[in-house]
Amino acid sequence: MRKRDLVSINDLSRDDVLEIFYIARDLKSRLAKGERPRLLDGRVLAMIFEKPSLRTRVTFEVGIHQLGGHAVTLTQAEIGLGKRESVHDVAKNLERWVNLVAIRTFEQKIVAQLALHAAIPVINALTDSEHPCQALADLFTLTEHFPSIQGLTLAYVGDGNNICSSLLLLCPLLGVNISVASPAAYAPPPAILAQAQRNAALTGARVALLQDPVAAVRDANAIYTDVWASMGQEHEAAERARVFRPYQVNGDLVASAPRGVKIMHDLPAHRGEEITDDVMDSENAIIFDQAENRLHVQKGIMVFLMS
Ligand code: CP
Ligand code: NVA
Repeated sequence: MRKRDLVSINDLSRDDVLEIFYIARDLKSRLAKGERPRLLDGRVLAMIFEKPSLRTRVTFEVGIHQLGGHAVTLTQAEIGLGKRESVHDVAKNLERWVNLVAIRTFEQKIVAQLALHAAIPVINALTDSEHPCQALADLFTLTEHFPSIQGLTLAYVGDGNNICSSLLLLCPLLGVNISVASPAAYAPPPAILAQAQRNAALTGARVALLQDPVAAVRDANAIYTDVWASMGQEHEAAERARVFRPYQVNGDLVASAPRGVKIMHDLPAHRGEEITDDVMDSENAIIFDQAENRLHVQKGIMVFLMS
């Protein structure tokens, strides 16, 4: 059997996603009853972080522990991936000691190279281009808040970044419509939009790229936003704050959406920038459910890739 990786949402079929959700749902309900099936007994996950993290780091570490395995965490300062040692050679070392790798880095191609050279599954724990674990947890969270997600509409408001790309690929695969509202210069990459349209053709979902946030949220079941300057773009923060100001998810924008619209954010949030306190703390926000579900969904991803 060929080994599986999660470098991009493109690595998964609709059935793969449904299987990951099935495992995640089962493990979540069993954990609530105090059960911790040791499905990855004695297995070791190596985590490589070249950018900061709270959620990803904690949820992978707690997740592998709950499954009976354990994690080793490495930073760029320690291993010097691609500098002290080539990506190829790091892959050839890690595969001799551990069973699974999760990596957070800048370039998507580093994750692809690691997956190519390592005989063990490699998980993208965020790159400049994608954040598949987050998008999977987000759509899983929607399944908990709606009887069916087929035909729902997600409005993504803000930067056409890594989060936006993974949502663009995943939503249509699951029959969820997605409307993205971004300033023209910060729209998602054309190749991602093209793949999103191909995924939509399989399920009949709609993919729309707009510039007007009000138009994007008009028929939305959920509004999603993310920081205006991602990790690595801190030097652009002032310019971005100016350009993205009309894209703030605030009370006025939420009032343009249907009543009861869910509010989503991958976190960390910059309160008062892309989202206001009143919206983030409103009863329709499901933001911390998304964060919680990183744990359950990543356990599902690890079990899926290892079985
Ligand atoms: N959402 C997310 O990936 O959070 P961290 O950057 O804290 O891991
Ligand atoms: N777009 C954000 C997501 C953080 C989880 C970033 O890359 O910094």
